[in-house]
Amino acid sequence: MTEPLPTVPMGNTELTEDEIEAALAALRSGQLRQGAEVSAFENAFAEFVGVPHAVACSSGTAALHIAFHALLSPGDEVLVPAFTFIATASAVVMAGGVPVLCDVNADDYNLDLERALSQVTSRTRAACVVPLFGHPIDAPALAEFQRQFSGAVVGDCAQALGSLDTEGRALDARVDAVTHSFYPSKNLFVGEGGMITTTEGSCAAQYRRLRSHGRTGPHYHEELGFNYRMSEVEAAIGRCQLPKVQRRAKRRREIAAHYASELGDLPGVRLPSDPVTGTHSYHQYTLRLDPEVLDRERFSAGLAERKILSAVHYPRGLHEQPALEGRSRTPLRLPVTEALCRSVLSIPVHAGLSDGEVERVVAAVRHCAGGTR
Ligand SMILES: Cc1ncc(COP(=O)(O)O)c(C=O)c1O
Repeated sequence: MTEPLPTVPMGNTELTEDEIEAALAALRSGQLRQGAEVSAFENAFAEFVGVPHAVACSSGTAALHIAFHALLSPGDEVLVPAFTFIATASAVVMAGGVPVLCDVNADDYNLDLERALSQVTSRTRAACVVPLFGHPIDAPALAEFQRQFSGAVVGDCAQALGSLDTEGRALDARVDAVTHSFYPSKNLFVGEGGMITTTEGSCAAQYRRLRSHGRTGPHYHEELGFNYRMSEVEAAIGRCQLPKVQRRAKRRREIAAHYASELGDLPGVRLPSDPVTGTHSYHQYTLRLDPEVLDRERFSAGLAERKILSAVHYPRGLHEQPALEGRSRTPLRLPVTEALCRSVLSIPVHAGLSDGEVERVVAAVRHCAGGTR
């Protein structure tokens, strides 16, 4: 009897032996709360992304909350893409601001910077760019945006560790503050964790204060803050994973290149665009299925029958999220976001996939698209 085929998952979140050893060493050290491991992880991370300051915290959402809290006064507006995970916008609301939900580009799914500029008002304080699924922000377009925009630019790089622009630089070196997430499924995962990077020492100092109750001395608090600290165990795992990030991103790119060569001819299936400017880290490999040609639910069920998991990132734009109703503004129509929500389907692309699993994904996608060879 042949063994049943195992399911091909959307992510691989198993820790390796060296990462488990690093976590155990932190557990055995007797120091669980934020200490030397966190500082060492921050220093290594700052060097990795090419900026002088990195501040570790408890999640990507905490990182966004701190960054916006430091920046916004009540009622300040932030230009935010409508096609992203909710945390990008909910952090603005939690910091007292108002997300202005803007459409994204049809080719890279990132904020349409030119249209976003048309939404600037006297209340606009910042813009948040999100290299979605790991597709880098178009550096020349960003530079032009920064030339015309007087507010701060925050990068939500929760999905983009390992993405680089044409000059080989991470977004961290280009904008005022960048946030990262270390949630499982990311290129670097520790369980729960996040990081804020900045080139400005005074901003880093404020982020450090806000991370820990606004504390500036023993039982002395200059401002109100949060408890968004990272523990030593998470930092130890993160530090151990950092040298592996580019290798993992490279493996994701290899798989993406294979999908591009094997799936490019399927009617009704549009593949993600390879960036003209920069290097993708393929946090997700997201197909667009033409609803006139292929039914997404049936397609995804067909993949599941062949034991290939898939996921919809995202089925609705932020303008359709009840939680943001009355708390955000959507001044423009969002045709690209709406079309994407109807058509996107992500297939497995993580670094843990074997060549055999990649071939199974190819065969299943071809079968479901009616393009069996
Ligand atoms: C674009 C984006 N921003 C923010 C977050 C929030 O990160 P975390 O889950 O670490 O809070 C995520 C998480 O997936 C994300 O994808």
